[in-house]
Amino acid sequence: MSLISPWRADFPGILALAAEGQTYLDSAATAQKPQAVLDALLGYLAGGAANVHRAQHLPGERATRAFEATRDKAATWLNAASREEILFTRGSTEALNLLAYSLEHLLQPGDEIVISALEHHANLLPWQQLALRRGLKLVVLPLDAAGSIDLAHAAQLIGPRTRLLALSQLSNVLGRWQPLRELLAMARTHGALSVVDGAQGAVHGRPDMQALGCDFYVCSGHKLYGPDGVGLLYGRNQALAQLRHWQFGGEMVLDADYQSARFRPAPLGFEAGTPPVSAVIALGAALDWLSAQNQAAVTQHEATLHAELLAGLAARQGVRLLGQPQLALASFTIDGIHNADLAHLLTEQGIAVRAGHHCAMPLLKSLGLSGAIRVSLGLYNDGEDLTHFFDALDQALELLR
Ligand SMILES: Cc1ncc(COP(=O)(O)O)c(C=O)c1O
Repeated sequence: MSLISPWRADFPGILALAAEGQTYLDSAATAQKPQAVLDALLGYLAGGAANVHRAQHLPGERATRAFEATRDKAATWLNAASREEILFTRGSTEALNLLAYSLEHLLQPGDEIVISALEHHANLLPWQQLALRRGLKLVVLPLDAAGSIDLAHAAQLIGPRTRLLALSQLSNVLGRWQPLRELLAMARTHGALSVVDGAQGAVHGRPDMQALGCDFYVCSGHKLYGPDGVGLLYGRNQALAQLRHWQFGGEMVLDADYQSARFRPAPLGFEAGTPPVSAVIALGAALDWLSAQNQAAVTQHEATLHAELLAGLAARQGVRLLGQPQLALASFTIDGIHNADLAHLLTEQGIAVRAGHHCAMPLLKSLGLSGAIRVSLGLYNDGEDLTHFFDALDQALELLR
């Protein structure tokens, strides 16, 4: 396969892995970083680290400026109404836990939280535990055969008792965009708050908060070709104003006495303690890098790679895809072969794919599976990566059959 990635040379990590004989096909778990992100990270650390929002000295001012510049970049990238709608977290998981805690006071026993059958544990367990704490009902929207949330069922299940809808934009197992426009409209009709888990979706096309119309949106830096340890939480101004403060400490307080305190509003009121300064600064570089790419060319490249991946899988005997993936990844099992055995042989041949339940155990169980193999793609993958993968797959299958 001769498909070439014009972005590959920009990613030292992918080149280093290739030099080691490793073919990286696990970008849905974490993506490699372009040189610009590494430069920003090292530039800040080697140029003199300092804490933010505290110091008057030059390094402190410089760090604060670079840190806050990322908030501006994120607001532009997400098309938020203002920079105050952007909160830094440690990742999507922390952002969702923040919401599940900070919205708790708005919910009464008997209220309903609606999620879907395909949610990652990060967008299931915080709501499940909240429901258990508060006596709420957790409603799970079923899927159709392709792996999309079934709109007809959703229309029956989203109703006047729904107080909150929390859904993934793009499934990390099934690789399908979910029909969020229709689902969010249902939530709005019933006055429910909406949370979108953009951990997988954000990197594939520009997320647009005005077009999407959700109350909250979360994503992770490390899946956006940026650093780990940082994520974004977007909240519509009026929705953010309803959040209860959750972590307490330095820089989130307006005034403190021994017995009481007053807290800042968002965003700083929700960024207690020293934030991940270097990661936030490097995330700014990742957003700059992403914004500078020709999105149409990226989408085209990813679509071609994905089509080749699906065609190659379809040509192998006994391959069963999970749902009908549209982009970025494909999860599959092979008749008569345990996914752990196959993963082991692929690993031995230098193929870095993911095997297991993909942090979506209830979904896998509902499909009657304990695990599956997932191949996921980044814009740096090329035709040769797929050739390596299919050669290794054929060899593994020959051994296992
Ligand atoms: C759909 C989805 N949601 C949430 C997460 C959690 O993201 P993080 O581990 O960066 O917090 C992931 C991670 O794989 C994911 O795929």
